[in-house]
Amino acid sequence: MDERLPQLLMCRELDIAPLDPYVSCDFLVRPATTDDEPGIAGVLTDAFNDAWSVDRVARELTRRCDVDTVFVAEADVKIVGTASARLGTHLIPGAGYVHWVATAGGYRGRGVARALCAAVLRRFQELGCRSVVLETDDARTEAVRLYWRLGFRPLSRHPMDGTRWDAVLAACDLCDREE
Ligand SMILES: CC(C)(COP(=O)(O)OP(=O)(O)OC[C@H]1O[C@@H](n2cnc3c(N)ncnc32)[C@H](O)[C@@H]1OP(=O)(O)O)[C@@H](O)C(=O)NCCC(=O)NCCS
Repeated sequence: MDERLPQLLMCRELDIAPLDPYVSCDFLVRPATTDDEPGIAGVLTDAFNDAWSVDRVARELTRRCDVDTVFVAEADVKIVGTASARLGTHLIPGAGYVHWVATAGGYRGRGVARALCAAVLRRFQELGCRSVVLETDDARTEAVRLYWRLGFRPLSRHPMDGTRWDAVLAACDLCDREE
């Protein structure tokens, strides 16, 4: 992929369906506290193959002024996933922005990210947002499948996006593409 291309965009309206709380006996989803910063750093470092320190988590998430709520998933007395509700995106005025979604390697495929994203979407509903946007990458098929199942659909902002989405949705077995 051309490195200069922007990330792919997905959007979901918030008035199309009520969101049920997603409950599991295997893990708990809750807002993060500062005590969770090392655990969040570990999950993000593992998931994005990039160094996340406690300072970076504070700077980019837990103490960042446009991040309303950082959610964590807790299982086996540790942090196993995170997703955040960020406001003030320039992408769509008034929309919420789903920020830094990740599940620790050993806990994937159990609905952790789905529950975290549902908590983020419910928070945006509480805040009165009418829509939610997120950015992702062409190779993140697990993430695109998850977002699609949560009702997100592709948005185009670059002339190459139509071609890129055709390839991404085919790789995800999501061929009934809707604009
Ligand atoms: C993308 C990512 C966050 C998904 O996390 P996850 O916790 O595995 O996601 P979920 O379990 O909620 O959903 C993933 C799949 O597991 C399935 N699943 C949900 N509950 C399940 C269960 N109890 N048992 C088995 N599978 C289950 C979901 O249906 C989904 O399947 P699908 O792909 O067929 O739709 C994770 O792969 C990750 O951290 N990737 C690296 C970082 C990344 O790409 N982040 C997104 C950046 S935009």
